[in-house]
Amino acid sequence: MFNSIIAIIVSYLLGSISFSILFARGLRKIDIREHGSGNAGATNTLRVLGKGPAIAVFLLDIAKGSVAVLIGLWLGEGSEWVPVACGLAAIGGHNWPIYFRFKGGKGIATTVGALVIWAFLPTLIAGIVAILVIVFTRYVSLGSMVFAVWLPILFYLFHLDAAYIWGALAVALLAIVRHRNNIVKLLNGTENKLGSGKKGEP
Ligand code: G3P
Repeated sequence: MFNSIIAIIVSYLLGSISFSILFARGLRKIDIREHGSGNAGATNTLRVLGKGPAIAVFLLDIAKGSVAVLIGLWLGEGSEWVPVACGLAAIGGHNWPIYFRFKGGKGIATTVGALVIWAFLPTLIAGIVAILVIVFTRYVSLGSMVFAVWLPILFYLFHLDAAYIWGALAVALLAIVRHRNNIVKLLNGTENKLGSGKKGEP
């Protein structure tokens, strides 16, 4: 029990390391949350800092989700609820980071990292669907939400343990809540498309 609680706390602290904020500070001395969409994530890093930093942020945000779940598997004493809680804690840390006034991102890259460890194949399938949505619509937010909503459905269809299905359901709800401004913009036709706008502008 003690080890599991430590694992969850460490996962939250790890998830709270916001690489988009750190890269923007380090490279341009700006707060990324005051530029572009205002989101502390890889998509906004692409908008504000360009491709190289965006790829680095995306991979690092994925890595922290995966490492958190691996810590949960290591310290969880065989319970599947601990890696699930660790993944959710890392996503929570990314969204509400303790080091950056609790204003972070939308948690999609960290979700990818956590869920490929929870269950690789269904996460890969949801990821491929999301990429297709992004390629055809150029809306990253729409692809992100499609990815998140498919996860609990696929986890259920793959007959995964209840802990993982509930975890995926929580992930989907979190993603929808965090994308509520994007949903409004998608509905009124003002959402940013991938590749539109110049670097450093919304
Ligand atoms: O994962 C974030 C993405 O879905 C949307 O980001 O910056 O366009 O709001 P953004």
